[in-house]
Amino acid sequence: MNIGIDKIGFFTSDLFLDMAELATARNEDPNKYLIGIGQKKAAVIRNSQDSVTLAANAASKIIDDADRQKIDLILFGTESGVDNSKSGSVYLQHLLGINQSASGVELKQACFGLTAGIRLAMGHIMMKPDSRVLLVGSDIARYGLHSSGEVTQGGGAVAMIMSANPRIMTISKEYSHYTKDIMDFWRPLGFSEALVDGKYSSDEFIQFFLKTYNAYKDMTKLESSDFEALVFHLPFTKMGYKALRAGIEDETVEEQNRLFEAFDESKQLSQIVGNLYTGSLYLSLISLLINRELKQNDIIGLFSYGSGAEGEFFSGKINNYDKQSLIESLKWLDQRKQVTVKEYERIYLSAMLDSDDFETDYREDPAKFILKGQKNHQRIYGEH
Ligand code: CAA
Repeated sequence: MNIGIDKIGFFTSDLFLDMAELATARNEDPNKYLIGIGQKKAAVIRNSQDSVTLAANAASKIIDDADRQKIDLILFGTESGVDNSKSGSVYLQHLLGINQSASGVELKQACFGLTAGIRLAMGHIMMKPDSRVLLVGSDIARYGLHSSGEVTQGGGAVAMIMSANPRIMTISKEYSHYTKDIMDFWRPLGFSEALVDGKYSSDEFIQFFLKTYNAYKDMTKLESSDFEALVFHLPFTKMGYKALRAGIEDETVEEQNRLFEAFDESKQLSQIVGNLYTGSLYLSLISLLINRELKQNDIIGLFSYGSGAEGEFFSGKINNYDKQSLIESLKWLDQRKQVTVKEYERIYLSAMLDSDDFETDYREDPAKFILKGQKNHQRIYGEH
């Protein structure tokens, strides 16, 4: 049975910060951020958005009434969840009007959560071939103001529907996985910003890629030349470039150029949005789907990395997807508004992450689903 991605959609904030402006404000050479890190813009997430509303806004772009009836499992990958007990999937199910027979859970392993969901969905659909599974990877990537990680911030959500006979991409049953207990990036309980050992995390990212990519090639007998593209989790786009460079250093120049060109097409969206954590790899996939001339049966390699750490490499086979409508579905990205560094700092500090009761600035937020505030430690969501 062919199982994979039948629909895919993306949502982020209507606001962005220019990375050259941030560099100037932080007394850095703009080329460090633009070239050294490889980021042009970062999404600035309003205080009226959280991982639940970002997910609902992404999923509302792809689900229709038939899906609302048919979805029987919701898998919510996040590392910026809003409750230590209640799953984001329950809020999502309610906000989207998905039938109440569907079950759901939240999955956490840093940026690996959505990929873990893919594995679970594959098994679920094998047992129930008629099933439609809604998966979301939804996060706000938040580091300290003036920290070295600040340039790698971002946020947003990718939503997918997985099913048998998928229209976009069939996912391989084979995958190679590697887990090692390390402290490269983590967020202790009660912290609203991540802690990170930046250089160590970057080195480990590359090692995890090499291990899983080589193991996958051994397992499947595929070679680099069999892949039309290799796409990556992109905490910042230079990270994926470095891992790719290490993975294909023994290939011919022609082969390297082909894969670098495809990588370039896959990094376009991350470069103007920033890190999405769980959704990031799948944003790379969307970027490839809209920018590259792909043919049916082209094989795409995907590398997922979740700090702490787990890495996984798997592949997908392209089906006959509707490229033009995917391009149309992302046109709104051109309408985003730029904010100044001062405005970004004001919004950053207004994210009432430690407050008990609060009201957000939701009236200014054009998104369909918004967080209005919190009362008695209970989230209050709304719809425009
Ligand atoms: N022109 C061009 N390039 C320049 C430059 C200039 N004027 N000035 C500096 N650079 C280059 C540097 O040479 C360097 O390039 P190399 O990496 O090729 O050596 C690059 O810009 C970055 O410079 P620094 O190493 O000095 O940057 P930094 O120390 O300020 O921080 C960082 C970089 C460690 C990535 C930091 O942003 C960080 O900690 N980010 C968060 C952690 C992260 O994303 N880790 C990735 C792996 S973990 C993961 O994937 C999970 C996840 O999502 C978080």
